[in-house]
Amino acid sequence: MLDKGKLQRLQRALKPHLAHGWERAVFAAPQGEGGNARAERVLAGPGVGVAPSAAQVDALLAAAAEAAGAGLWKQTLVLDARRRVQVDARHGRATTRTLDEDTALKVMGGKERALRPDTSAALLREIGIMNADGSISATHARKYKQISHLATLCEPVIDRLAATRTLGPAAPLRALDLACGNAYLSFVLAEVLRLRGVPLRLHGVDVRADVVARSIDRARALGLAAPEDEAATPGAGDAVVGLSFAQADIAGAARTAPARLGGVPDLVLALHACDTATDEAIALAIELGVPALLSVPCCQAELAAQLARASAAAQPLAAMVEHGLLRRAYADVLTDSLRVAALEACGYDVTVLEFVGGEHTPKNLLIKGHRRHPRAPVDPHRWRLGPLRARCEALGVQPDLLRRLAAIQAASPRAGE
Ligand SMILES: C[S@@+](CC[C@H](N)C(=O)[O-])C[C@H]1O[C@@H](n2cnc3c(N)ncnc32)[C@H](O)[C@@H]1O
Repeated sequence: MLDKGKLQRLQRALKPHLAHGWERAVFAAPQGEGGNARAERVLAGPGVGVAPSAAQVDALLAAAAEAAGAGLWKQTLVLDARRRVQVDARHGRATTRTLDEDTALKVMGGKERALRPDTSAALLREIGIMNADGSISATHARKYKQISHLATLCEPVIDRLAATRTLGPAAPLRALDLACGNAYLSFVLAEVLRLRGVPLRLHGVDVRADVVARSIDRARALGLAAPEDEAATPGAGDAVVGLSFAQADIAGAARTAPARLGGVPDLVLALHACDTATDEAIALAIELGVPALLSVPCCQAELAAQLARASAAAQPLAAMVEHGLLRRAYADVLTDSLRVAALEACGYDVTVLEFVGGEHTPKNLLIKGHRRHPRAPVDPHRWRLGPLRARCEALGVQPDLLRRLAAIQAASPRAGE
């Protein structure tokens, strides 16, 4: 319980800032107090620029007093994305903080980034990078820079897609996130497009129900959920702007995605899809004639196992398969190189980039593909896979992707058949 003097000082500190509404109030224990987890309560406000009712003001003051009595005396009134009032409830001192350009630049690590802490605050909060009180802790600063880097990677892809067809509310950019997990890349893409005013229809699939449910909740919290993931369900197959997620495997997505999205996706995302799930995603993109693909391969076990049985004499150097560590590193490079070569043979321009700037992990490679003729019909018999197959045969490997593409070719009737 706060004594009467402290309570009055707290109320005097808060009241002058309430007239034009606020986004939320955050009551926190100071760092180092309240146990390991950051003890914090968040109370939604009436909204920015919304004059509060007397009951809303009373509820805020009561909550602030109760929180202070419970040791949550570091209190922040978030007025909007740029302005907050910090109150030290022990002394009733209020400090107004504005996210001016200098402060924003400091948060951005000294350079302009695709996602700014003021304009993209809702996304940054929702994915756990920004604290409820609008601050970004030192531990999250690195993650913030990685997410901004992702946004930067999306920009030229959007530019190229926008150059091939006119995007608008009736014809949103259509994206498919395969093995989406927590769908961070999808949310970053949605934010980049929101900032540009380009409508997006995105569908994400994953075999895990929990990550799908989390992504649906996140899309709802950001006001981005496609109506089919909201309570009122439109007719099946309606392509409405927004993000939807479903529990399905990649094969299931292949059947349903075009109907859900209102057409063939413009962009397929496959971020750290496990082992050959990456190949399944690439094969699906090629089969559908998807104009753009962003794929970051994950763990790769398939070729390492095949190389263990392959002839050492057939490799560039026998040592590459005779030593386990070298064999796995060789298999990783071979797998991704074959993916790149297969995409090129099927009509894609491919670039290989570092995925997360400054990171040196084996899973840090981004394969970016753009279909050379994005509007041409898909004809699997024009894919020039023969030389690649011969090369694989000589090396003693049979990559999943080539098997999938061969199956698609075999199932496709030749013109005139
Ligand atoms: C390492 S996580 C990556 C998730 C997310 N794309 C990311 O980068 O944060 C791999 C995800 O792939 C999913 N997955 C693996 N095989 C799949 C398949 N055949 N179809 C759909 N999801 C799959 C898993 O459930 C898991 O959520």
